[in-house]
Amino acid sequence: ADPDSLQDFCVADLNASISINGFPCRPASKVNASDFFFDLSKEGVTNTSNLNSSVTPANVLAFPAVNTLGISMNRVDFDLGGLNPPHSHPRATEMGLVVEGSILVGFVTTSNVYYSKVLTPGEVFVIPRGLVHFQKNVGNKKGIVFTSFNSQMPGVVLASTTLFGSQPPMPNEVLTQAFQVDDAVVNSIKSKFGS
Ligand code: GLV
Ligand code: MN
Repeated sequence: ADPDSLQDFCVADLNASISINGFPCRPASKVNASDFFFDLSKEGVTNTSNLNSSVTPANVLAFPAVNTLGISMNRVDFDLGGLNPPHSHPRATEMGLVVEGSILVGFVTTSNVYYSKVLTPGEVFVIPRGLVHFQKNVGNKKGIVFTSFNSQMPGVVLASTTLFGSQPPMPNEVLTQAFQVDDAVVNSIKSKFGS
């Protein structure tokens, strides 16, 4: 989904003082082999929240070599019952490979149709660009999924924190009306997402 590149590579200078769409290139004299390799072998820390999951990104911020190449990856780790909660990527289609575990993958279309399947190692899924999706470990051991994106920076819109954890907070009069619940319900959810 990203624009085509006009040169072989453009390893990002993440600290450049100018601001452009993407990042400026580091001079070739400051690029070496190690820039083009990235380690996703390590399990992420899954116990920092009740989600029991962890996303390790290999996007342009973590892996500057993907700058201008229209591609990136994540490693997603799941402890038992772990959930990568409903979210969408405004700038990319996502394709994922289940490497360990039994993973329920679901997404909802703009016509509100829900598609899902439980995948096991070796199976892949695709999430069309921009659609809300999740993965949940429904097996009896840990899970690992590698995801890939046709963007160097797919962006993540997390349903929960976007609506209930923004700073400053979205007004209760909007959320109570939208979700047809009272202030107590909205405040309770907001309190869990720091807004
Ligand atoms: C999974 O949905 C991911 O965004 O890596
Ligand atoms: Mn995703």
